[in-house]
Amino acid sequence: MPNVVVIGAQWGDEGKGRIVDLISEKVDIIARYQGGNNAGHTIVIGDEKVVLHHLPSGILREGKVSVIGNGVVIDPKVLLEEIRDLRAAGYKADCDNLKISDRAHVIMPYHKEIDKGREESNGNTKIGTTGRGIGPVYEDKAARRGIKVSDLIDTDALSQRLKDVLPDRNLYISKVLGKEPLNFENILEQYSIYGKELMEFTCDVSKLLNDSITEGKNILFEGAQGALLDIDFGTYPYVTSSSASSGGACTGTGVSPTRIDSVLGIAKAYTTRVGEGPFTSEISGDTEQRLRELGGEYGATTGRSRRCGWFDAFAIKYASMINGISYIALTKLDVLSGFEKINICTAYRYKGQVLSDYPSNNHMLSECEPVYKELEGWNEDISCAKDVTELPTQARRYLDAIEESTGVPLYAVSLGASREKILFLNEIF
Ligand code: GDP
Ligand code: IMO
Ligand code: MG
Repeated sequence: MPNVVVIGAQWGDEGKGRIVDLISEKVDIIARYQGGNNAGHTIVIGDEKVVLHHLPSGILREGKVSVIGNGVVIDPKVLLEEIRDLRAAGYKADCDNLKISDRAHVIMPYHKEIDKGREESNGNTKIGTTGRGIGPVYEDKAARRGIKVSDLIDTDALSQRLKDVLPDRNLYISKVLGKEPLNFENILEQYSIYGKELMEFTCDVSKLLNDSITEGKNILFEGAQGALLDIDFGTYPYVTSSSASSGGACTGTGVSPTRIDSVLGIAKAYTTRVGEGPFTSEISGDTEQRLRELGGEYGATTGRSRRCGWFDAFAIKYASMINGISYIALTKLDVLSGFEKINICTAYRYKGQVLSDYPSNNHMLSECEPVYKELEGWNEDISCAKDVTELPTQARRYLDAIEESTGVPLYAVSLGASREKILFLNEIF
C-alpha cells in the first residue's frame, strides 16, 4: 500500500482535515509533520463538527494510529485540552492510538508573548499571524535555544534548559517589546506538570514509522497550512515558519523520500487567504462577500474573515512543481453554484509582460495582475450529485479547465463538508 503525503496546495484552509479524515480509512497511520496549533482542521461527521489544531485528522477513525512528528511544534496546554475534549466527545485518544515525537519542539509562554508583541508593534511589516507563537518557536529551534518534548518530560532537563534560555528571551520581551518579563518558577511549575501528562504519549516516532513501513503498513503524512505559506517556497515574508510543502514530510518525521509514493494536493475550487501578503486573484465587493458567506470563509483558529478570490492555476502549477503533486482533491465546488461567470487565473502579468514562472520577489508579486480565463457558471445545487455525470455541463467544463490549466489530474471533488459528499475520479490507494 502506498505512503501518501497530503498537502495544502494554496494558502491553507483548503479542506485538508476533511479529506484526511475521509482517506484515513484507507491507511494504518496518520502523521502530522509540521506546524502547530496555528492550524485549524475542520471535520464534519453527521451533525457533529470537530476542529483539530494539534491532533492529526485521522484521530476520529477507529483502529488507526495518529502520530505527531518531530517537525511539529506543540503547545502542551492546547494539546492536552484537545485530547480531553475529544475523549469527552466519545473518541479514543490514548497512548495506544496517539504517539508524540520526543524530538518535537515546545511552544513556551514567551513564544506567544513575542509573537503577539511583534504583531502589535509591527505596523507596516505585520504578517497577520495566528498569535500562537509559531514564528518564535521555530526561530528558537534554528537558533539552538529550543525546548524539546524530551526536555519537557524530564523536570531537571526542563529546569536547566529554561535557566539557559529564559534570560535571553526575557531581555527581548522587556527591552525590545517593552513588556513584562516572564517568571521562571511559574513556567517551570506549570510546564513540568504538562510534561508529566504528556509523557505516556511520547516515543521515537521516526523509528515507529520506519518499522511500520517495513512491516507493510501504510502512512498518510498530513501537512498543515499550504504550499504558498511554506517558509522557503511561499510568498515570503508573508508565510508561516515551517516546511508546509511535501519535503517537510521527510524532515518532519524522519521517513526518507525513497519510502514515499505520492503526493495529494488539496485545493479549494476558489482561493482564500488569511492574514497579510500578496494575493493576485483576490476579488472584492459583492462577489467576494458572496463567496465568503456561501463558503463560510471565517478562520477555524482565529475566527478572522478569510480574503477570497478566484482559483489560481498559476500558483497551483508552481505548487505542483515544488511538491510533486500527483493528484488534486478539489473541495467546495458546491460553493460556486449560482455564480453567473467563474474565473480561473491562468497566468500573472507584471508591467505588461505575462510571466512564465512564479515570482520569488514579494515586491514584484504584489504588483502582478491576474490573467483570467472566464467560464460560464451554473445554477443547480450540486451538493447531492453521486457521480460526475450528474454535474451540470458547466461544472464539468470547470473541472476540465482546472485539470488543463494546472496540468494535474483530479483525484476527487468534494461537494460538501460531510463524509459522503465526495466524488472520486481516480485511484491512489
Ligand atoms: P483545513 O485547514 O485545510 O483543514 O481547512 P479548514 O477546516 O480550515 O477550512 C475548510 C472548511 O470548509 C471547513 O469548514 C470544512 O468543513 C469546509 N469544507 C470542506 N470541504 C467542503 C466542501 O466540499 N464543501 C463545503 N461547502 N464545505 C467544505
Ligand atoms: P491550516 O492548517 C490558513 C497564516 C496566518 C498568517 C501566516 C503566519 O488550517 O490550513 P503563523 O501564526 O503561522 O506565524 O502565521 O500564516 N496561517 C494560516 N492560514 N490556514 C492555516 O492553517 C494557517 N496557519 C497559519 O494567517 O498569514
Ligand atoms: Mg484551517
